[in-house]
Amino acid sequence: MTRNWSPSSWRQKPIQQVPDYPDAAALASTEERLATYPPLVFAGEARRLKTALASVANGDSFLLQGGDCAESFAEHGADNIRDFFRAFLQMAVVLTFGAQMPVVKVGRIAGQFAKPRSSNIERQGDVELPSYRGDIINGIEFTEEARIPNPERQIMAYRQSAATLNLLRAFAMGGYANLDNVHQWMLGFVKESPQGERYRKLAERISETMDFMRAIGIDADNNRSLRETDFFTSHEALLLGYEQALTRVDSTSGDWYATSGHMIWIGDRTRQPDHAHVEYCRGIKNPIGLKCGPSLTAEGLIELIDLLNPANEAGRLTLICRFGHDKIAEHLPRLIRAVEKEGKKVVWSCDPMHGNTITLNNYKTRPFERILSEVESFFQIHRSEGSHPGGIHIEMTGKDVTECTGGARALTGTDLGDRYHTHCDPRLNADQALELAFLLAERMKQSHDEKRALAANG
Ligand code: PEP
Ligand code: CO
Repeated sequence: MTRNWSPSSWRQKPIQQVPDYPDAAALASTEERLATYPPLVFAGEARRLKTALASVANGDSFLLQGGDCAESFAEHGADNIRDFFRAFLQMAVVLTFGAQMPVVKVGRIAGQFAKPRSSNIERQGDVELPSYRGDIINGIEFTEEARIPNPERQIMAYRQSAATLNLLRAFAMGGYANLDNVHQWMLGFVKESPQGERYRKLAERISETMDFMRAIGIDADNNRSLRETDFFTSHEALLLGYEQALTRVDSTSGDWYATSGHMIWIGDRTRQPDHAHVEYCRGIKNPIGLKCGPSLTAEGLIELIDLLNPANEAGRLTLICRFGHDKIAEHLPRLIRAVEKEGKKVVWSCDPMHGNTITLNNYKTRPFERILSEVESFFQIHRSEGSHPGGIHIEMTGKDVTECTGGARALTGTDLGDRYHTHCDPRLNADQALELAFLLAERMKQSHDEKRALAANG
């Protein structure tokens, strides 16, 4: 058991990003109620994810993590969940083929409700109101009433997470995630995309591989892994009262687990080593993510790794790097070298979203080219440092939104107003997300083919 730690020990530490709940008694009673509710996930599943992530840390698997920036109560419908899952699975298949390794699938979903904000205040015209902090805390409408933090929202977020998770489990295990389905959806995408010609070759090679497997008798009827998939959930562990209420002892191991999701992460704004968020996360046994932005020093990173993963277990800690396309070359190599020098076992993941946000026509947006460029640099840097580019972490939706510019349909600043639906940061739409997967897979496949040719000739 972790020393001097309890699910509530974070309350003794300084803390950032705390909502200003007007009624402390109401908050406490909500947290008490939540603590009596069933866990959303169980410890055995979190351990299974940790094992899968250990394989990523060892260079044998690839991590795909993605979903909404912020889930919302208003957009909680079966269609949204289905469309997200559909786009996500297609990405996973394309990346599996490109990386030639298993892809560990982790959604930013079923709990991704609380948002850290750069400013406590939002100003519109002459009016100033408290910032929106995610549907689990307050409402997005720009009114005084909506912006008051309301603890009841935590109960709503819990119930929505449970319903979302229930549908995702049904999709993952009930036949919807069948590889033949995913393959057909992917072919549909290639046919419709203006850049389809570019993706066709890769898609054809996937089709050939599937025909070959079928020919030798491996199909969805006789192979579980072709008709079902492992899908895990994750979110930022920002609202610690909620997290504490769902922290439970695992009866098998006697360890504490966050049961609000399989994996949780610490945001770039709340990773102070002596503060509350790090304190909470160090004591639970789930796989943990740590956002790494430009202000993180090499010494600071090693200090955090020692706090969060003192036993240096592979799969426990994922470093989610979010520097920006123009800053990654300055920051990633120094962090990789420090980690390698100390022999720390980590998963390196690239979040190409949060360092590439700009404002265009009054909309927060992210140019697709910059997103792609940051991921490409991530791969290149790992190749030259001799480390494993373990995964990507993206904000995406299954819907045809217009929030990020660029991509095959060349969305421009003037298109942004058409379908700009995000409750927080701009997401890749389904096509852009799949394009990103194709472009990455193409490059990964190329370096495999080169290696293979070298081996054959050597
Ligand atoms: C996020 O992932 O939505 C987020 C706020 O990220 P970061 O902590 O990296 O800014
Ligand atoms: Co975000």
